[in-house]
Amino acid sequence: MTLSSTTKTTKPFDGQKPGTSGLRKAVKVFQQENYTENFVQCILSAMEGALEGCTLVVGGDGRYFGKEAVEVIVKMCAANKVRKLLVGQNGILSTPCVSGVIRKFSTSGGIVLTASHNPGGPNADFGIKFNISNGGPAPDGVTNKIFGLSQTIQEYKICPDLQCDISKVGTQEFVVDGNPFTVEVIDSVDEYVQYMKELFDFPAIKGLLQGTDGQPPLKVLINSMHGVTGPYVRRIFLEELGASEDSVVNTIPLEDFGGHHPDPNLTYAADLVEAMKNGDYGFGAAFDGDGDRNMILGHKAFFVTPSDSVAVIADNTDCIPYFRKNGVKGLARSMPTGCSIDRVAAKRGVEVFEVPTGWKYFGNLMDAGRLSICGEESFGTGSDHIREKDGIWAVLAWLSILAVRKTTVEKALHNHWQTYGRNFFTRYDYENCEADPCNAMMAELDSMASDSSMIGKELSRGNKHYKIAKIDNFEYTDPIDGAIAKKQGIRILMSDGSRVVFRLSGTGSSGATVRLYIESYESDQSTFTKDAQEVLKPLVEISLELSKLRERTGRQEPTVIT
Ligand code: G6P
Ligand code: ZN
Repeated sequence: MTLSSTTKTTKPFDGQKPGTSGLRKAVKVFQQENYTENFVQCILSAMEGALEGCTLVVGGDGRYFGKEAVEVIVKMCAANKVRKLLVGQNGILSTPCVSGVIRKFSTSGGIVLTASHNPGGPNADFGIKFNISNGGPAPDGVTNKIFGLSQTIQEYKICPDLQCDISKVGTQEFVVDGNPFTVEVIDSVDEYVQYMKELFDFPAIKGLLQGTDGQPPLKVLINSMHGVTGPYVRRIFLEELGASEDSVVNTIPLEDFGGHHPDPNLTYAADLVEAMKNGDYGFGAAFDGDGDRNMILGHKAFFVTPSDSVAVIADNTDCIPYFRKNGVKGLARSMPTGCSIDRVAAKRGVEVFEVPTGWKYFGNLMDAGRLSICGEESFGTGSDHIREKDGIWAVLAWLSILAVRKTTVEKALHNHWQTYGRNFFTRYDYENCEADPCNAMMAELDSMASDSSMIGKELSRGNKHYKIAKIDNFEYTDPIDGAIAKKQGIRILMSDGSRVVFRLSGTGSSGATVRLYIESYESDQSTFTKDAQEVLKPLVEISLELSKLRERTGRQEPTVIT
């Protein structure tokens, strides 16, 4: 079919600055005339010389407005001289899957349609994220360029008459302005499942679930929260690993995630926690809307804090074929993440990196062959098999450990603490606060960071005493390309190694969300079984007072405690 493109005039919109992970706004914002078109044009224009003749991947978590966005992207890529698109069937691809497909087919990048763990639906959020050719989220240099273009955009290119059916797997050929243009609709899960089978020992995991060597079967409960992982979970756990139908729930992706917040934490995945509490299951997991986050629970809803989850995986890499083959080059975590992985790195004698919040900061280290496994407190866990965090990967990693070590989730954690001591960790979220007072609070904390009289200050609560050793606003220089990221969160480091971190979320779509991260390390075995909330309470109270958070936000209690 021969088609021609046109150039349409437009005007810039304010606020098209990608956040921690792409541009996230209310669906209604994206539905404004030309809003989506503008941003897509800026993504394409930012590719400059790499755009013409390139191949890109397009897919998302299936949320409301996803199909409309795919249609716009296809028409605009055609007009912008992209040579080929690999599109997930019905526009569906999990974020880790997009990353894997970009890498496998060496495409120039991909466009991911997701607002991750934010709610979906006509009155909720949508998002567009650009991933570069390594499969990872675009680094700051690229997103700043996209934002710059969005402030001056005057026109965009589109091929309005191009009609493409994304409901069927297969290749569709077009001629646009005399140039060939191909849309290949790919099965949403095939590539990903094949890849997981290369990384993990599926027969061993199957043996764990079904019971082998005199071990009883492990009953698992996997909750997809009506996000994109549903079809991946069904294929992997039911078809490949032979789990029973009642092992998986909420596996039908819904445009509004059933009206829920598709975020796998103790608050928003409360149904998983409840179901696990009755003790019928030995292992539970949930994923977020686009499948990159995970929460791991053991028997009776024993909670694995994400900072510990990645440390346990890093400590047990001999249970996973991918690492047996490739070795472990280095480990990393984001700054607010609890430091348990640092101890594993020290014991293994490998480098450990502390990067700002955001998976994009791990990419360069992985590309340089210095980083194999990393994680974030925000329920992100992953490795250099792709350049995104990967929820299902994390579950398969855990099941591999349980299969080889013949242990349980809880025992694996206790064993870990026995070896390394325990980094108690909690995070308090104050969601959707007014932005101005939160910014004022951060500014005040920032000024504390440059006030030398703060150093040595004693802070007490009950019989707990802390002394401030250092305060800073975290700054990171990328060891590979020297890029500098400033003001990434206030760190208050205590003389006993405890840490308090304040950050404003970069993934919200309106207002401000304050995050308070608290960590303290204990080597005394008698403390290991204590509740993290109880152990950390004094430091939480001290931090709330120091920052005047309650007064500033008007909130007495956090929205979510992790
Ligand atoms: C996304 C990113 C993560 C990051 C998280 C932080 O999920 O992919 O890498 O940790 O956002 O979110 P926040 O709301 O704290 O900025
Ligand atoms: Zn996500």
